[in-house]
Amino acid sequence: MRISVIGCGYLGAVHAASMASLGHEVVGLDVDEAKIDALRAGRAPFYEPGLPELLAAVGTDRLTWTTDPAHTAGARVHFVCVGTPQMRGEFRADLQYVEAALAAIRPYLAPGDVVVGKSTVPVGTAERIAAELEPTGATLIWNPEFLREGFAVDDTLHPDRIVYGLPTVDGVTTPAGEAARALLDAVYATPLAEGIPLVVTDYATAQLVKVAANSFLATKISFVNAMAELCEATGADVTALADAIGHDVRIGRKFLNAGLGFGGGCLPKDIRAFMARAGELGVSDALRFLQEVDAVNMRRRVRMVDLAREVCDGSIVGRRVAVLGAAFKPNSDDIRDSPALSVAAQMQLQGAHVTVTDPQAITNARTKWSDLRFADTPEAAARDADVVLLATEWTQYRDLDPHALGQVVAHRRMLDGRNVLDPAVWRAAGWTYRGMGRP
Ligand code: UDX
Repeated sequence: MRISVIGCGYLGAVHAASMASLGHEVVGLDVDEAKIDALRAGRAPFYEPGLPELLAAVGTDRLTWTTDPAHTAGARVHFVCVGTPQMRGEFRADLQYVEAALAAIRPYLAPGDVVVGKSTVPVGTAERIAAELEPTGATLIWNPEFLREGFAVDDTLHPDRIVYGLPTVDGVTTPAGEAARALLDAVYATPLAEGIPLVVTDYATAQLVKVAANSFLATKISFVNAMAELCEATGADVTALADAIGHDVRIGRKFLNAGLGFGGGCLPKDIRAFMARAGELGVSDALRFLQEVDAVNMRRRVRMVDLAREVCDGSIVGRRVAVLGAAFKPNSDDIRDSPALSVAAQMQLQGAHVTVTDPQAITNARTKWSDLRFADTPEAAARDADVVLLATEWTQYRDLDPHALGQVVAHRRMLDGRNVLDPAVWRAAGWTYRGMGRP
């Protein structure tokens, strides 16, 4: 199948390479020349485990990259994979990149083509796009993406489920919708043959599935972080609490790690855009709890600054703080709404001397937060530090040797923002250890 993928970011680049690895002929389109140049040279323009290997394995016969929308002509299926960031100063999603992507490919669409929306959009967007596409003879399918950064290749090739939102009239899929579905089934023939569950539904449900899933995940994290607040007030241990409630299969242990909370390019902006959309639909009460989910999450960052102040005898002014981690989570170089950098910047603003380290995200972090100091290794960041904050749980930070790190710091004070260190081991090595929601 000839396929085009519009938008070659964390989602699109991985999707394009994955579809080529399934045997399709794929062209990836992006407006960013530097990104396209890197991909053409077989380099991943961002850090995503497995993507360089996938690009090398696929080669350039079936997978090409371009900034020229004309090269999408002849493709039968067009995946829209551009970002939908939060609108500046508002909760709504900014759809300008979706609009631009559709405008770019529109002149090259042929009747019978399928446009597949993967970007996360406010419910109602697909219906509008489908109507706009009608004169071209192309059909829209809404096919939300659930990939996690750091596991994007595996999540794309072996997703937990595939969701199709098809055009319907009175609850029945239109003939054009059925024809489009047959094409998308052919694109996904390999994963479908693996038995991956397929949910076929309408546009509205498909769009809602994505934001509902992310809202649930965000709620789970904020739930456990709310419990962490209770644990802090009572001397209880949120990690043991999460283990205990997580044994109940109805609850499950995943996404119950208390700490600095969620960040990234998806969960924070998706729950906000969802609230904004609910307001427009006149059902804001239904999602009022997400305000609380957001508030609990943001409070964790403030709490961490307070903890730093507590262990530094009441003030962080002039104190040297080492922050381990800049990415919003391990195995990513993505710093969008990173809790680690948010805390680092707050501490710097409040008068601390902050040095940040990260195995992959320093280049991105430096571009955005130029007044922070950066170091290449945890040891360099922690030299003469009054306090060390583990903010992103990279394996190399989980595995740090408290004795070795203790040699370079000025004071052995460890703030574990992800509750991944063994308090007993660090305390035995002479450190003051503070986790989040742990005694
Ligand atoms: C998320 C969804 O998981 C994915 O399905 C969707 O398509 C996009 O958004 P991603 O943003 O890559 O993926 O990261 P995820 O692994 O979900 O983590 C999100 C944030 O939550 C991170 O900052 C992470 O550190 C935090 N988190 C996660 C916790 O604080 N505690 C947990 O228990 C789990």
